[in-house]
Amino acid sequence: MAKEYNEHFPVMKDEVISLANIKSDSIVVDMTLGRAGHSSEFLKLIPNGHLYAVDQDINAISYSQRALKEIADNFTLFQAKFSQAPIILNDTYNVNGADFIFYDLGVSSPQFDDPGRGFSYRYNSPLDMRMDQINNMTTASEVVNRYEPSVLIKALYEYADEKYAKQIVKNIVKHRKIKPIKTTFELVDIIKEAVPLKEQHKDKHPAKKTFLAIRYLVNKEEDEILCGIPEGIRLLNSKGRLAVLTFNSYEDGLVKRLFKRFTSSICNNKYLPPEKKDIDFKLVLKKPLEPSEKEIELNHRSKPAKLRVIERIN
Ligand SMILES: C[S@@+](CC[C@H](N)C(=O)[O-])C[C@H]1O[C@@H](n2cnc3c(N)ncnc32)[C@H](O)[C@@H]1O
Repeated sequence: MAKEYNEHFPVMKDEVISLANIKSDSIVVDMTLGRAGHSSEFLKLIPNGHLYAVDQDINAISYSQRALKEIADNFTLFQAKFSQAPIILNDTYNVNGADFIFYDLGVSSPQFDDPGRGFSYRYNSPLDMRMDQINNMTTASEVVNRYEPSVLIKALYEYADEKYAKQIVKNIVKHRKIKPIKTTFELVDIIKEAVPLKEQHKDKHPAKKTFLAIRYLVNKEEDEILCGIPEGIRLLNSKGRLAVLTFNSYEDGLVKRLFKRFTSSICNNKYLPPEKKDIDFKLVLKKPLEPSEKEIELNHRSKPAKLRVIERIN
């Protein structure tokens, strides 16, 4: 049987729960189920409500189905991208409003730590990086070997703030012309060859940013945030809240701007004069919340986390 990688600490669990305003009969939607770390806590709080939870990774669904059954049975799990979830909730489960919606963006520790998935520069494996290995046909190998250099450079700059984007992509193109780049370690060597020697002795791994940018392209994570989270916000019931945990400055910036758009009374369209609109949402936190020092000490992966929360006011 394949080994399961299940070690996972739900990030900022207490902060998320205390801001969620969950009641015993709440309808809760977890858009990024993972190993049900947060969902287990949500389920305990809603004996008369229902938990709907989504993940695009089928392994997350099968693991969590077993884990949540130990707690209660008022939950429904389904495999989908979270951008598709509001339509599925409506069409399949007749759910057209939720009291709390949660997004914990990115990959889970079990995905990252599974050497076969190709997310980590620490293990040698085929270049995959797909969260959904059933429906997504674009692997990291496809991205690295076939994408236009301009697309790769833009992704490295924008998603990961990689200052050596041009040098790295130039070296990728040089190598892929000779033979396809097949494994994570081949890619790591190509990145190391492209960046100045001084970068290789810093505490951050020189391949970290490139791997993040490629993962974003493989899983279309920017589109998911930009299309999916507004659909989630529209699904909120009156007084319902939606919380997002982000793990890097690019995705946090996207969420910050989305929340601003929903909570601003001025509608800005660059082709038209600014227009006043009714405000239906408010920010619950003026500034994002970050994990405590104690949590960072226990789980260093929580360090970059930022929690933002929005509420429907009418
Ligand atoms: C950080 S983990 C969530 C961990 C979870 N909160 C827990 O405590 O166990 C993110 C999960 O969301 C899933 N995911 C990421 N982006 C997604 C998307 N656009 N649609 C559906 N699932 C997504 C990943 O497959 C992963 O399992």
